Amino acid sequence: MNEQTQLTVQALHWTGHSLKVLDQRCLPQTIVYHEYSDAEGVFDAIRSMEVRGAPAIGIAAAYGVVLSVRQHFDETGDEWRVKVAEDIAKLAQSRPTAVNLFWALKQMTDLLAGIQGNPVDEFLSLANKIHEEDISANHKMAEFGADIIGNAKGVMTHCNAGALATGGYGTALGVIRSAYKRGLKSIYAGETRPWLQGARLTAWELAQDGIPVTLVADSAAAWLMKSGAIEWIVVGADRIAANGDTANKIGTYSLAVLAKQHGIKLMIAAPTSTIDWSLENGNTIEIEQREARELLPECYEQSGSLVTAWNPVFDVTPAELITAIVTEKGVVLNPSEKGIRSLQ
Ligand code: MRU
Repeated sequence: MNEQTQLTVQALHWTGHSLKVLDQRCLPQTIVYHEYSDAEGVFDAIRSMEVRGAPAIGIAAAYGVVLSVRQHFDETGDEWRVKVAEDIAKLAQSRPTAVNLFWALKQMTDLLAGIQGNPVDEFLSLANKIHEEDISANHKMAEFGADIIGNAKGVMTHCNAGALATGGYGTALGVIRSAYKRGLKSIYAGETRPWLQGARLTAWELAQDGIPVTLVADSAAAWLMKSGAIEWIVVGADRIAANGDTANKIGTYSLAVLAKQHGIKLMIAAPTSTIDWSLENGNTIEIEQREARELLPECYEQSGSLVTAWNPVFDVTPAELITAIVTEKGVVLNPSEKGIRSLQ
């Protein structure tokens, strides 16, 4: 790895024969990596959110396909192709909203269709390329984003769009890291209920890099904006439609509406692998619903309980509420006016 890829926090680590995944369910109390040597294990790791965050999900799935090829390749016949295709189909079922998963699996499928001879090295090269290009994209968008933030004194982020959610450095947290190096004073993180990506992951990740952060309850966001402490909300994305509508962690839409009310700007930082050009707008983005028990206090879980929960884990922010979409290919300001086709 080059200097740019030296990381304090690393969600995924390819060992040469297996994928090590930092179990984000245990953070920040415990740092534990689980090691997977087949696609089934990687599928479970994505579905159970040991690894999460749109780009990291795509990268993990790509390595999952490498593991499948290693497991099934057989010089004597073509049966291995069927097995790998089945594993790709299974990995595609792990989570529905982040398009990076399908983007990475499509590249693996295209390689599978064309490959001759021993495929292991070529699949690994492709997974490594997806991983390294994601890190490089993060560094580019970090500088673009920091240019736009300029000398703002305060920003707020939501969920975790950091090294933990990507190949490294982060999308929104990449921007915030770079802005901090240039003098940004105040960083606020919303706790991000119910899974607490902000409280457990973003706060921890920034602290690992020696960057001070102030945690706020999600319900304190409006009051924080009213106080005048922040000029920007900076978040990542799970899927951006061709008109700029953006699916991201549940609560992003609330922040966008509040930001408009308070004259605060909203930046989406995401690699172009997060753009789904097949969708005209955000209306048809599939929103993952997770189990009620992620939200419900245990006492309501027994059968016959009258208390249930509705647990959508993403929402869609319309492009007209977004001030800037920052990618590795450049920036679109006011996407609802200009469209985002310049990024294609
Ligand atoms: O449910 P999660 O934790 O996978 O959701 C993650 C997010 O919503 C992130 O904000 C998004 O994936 C961008 S990560 C660079």
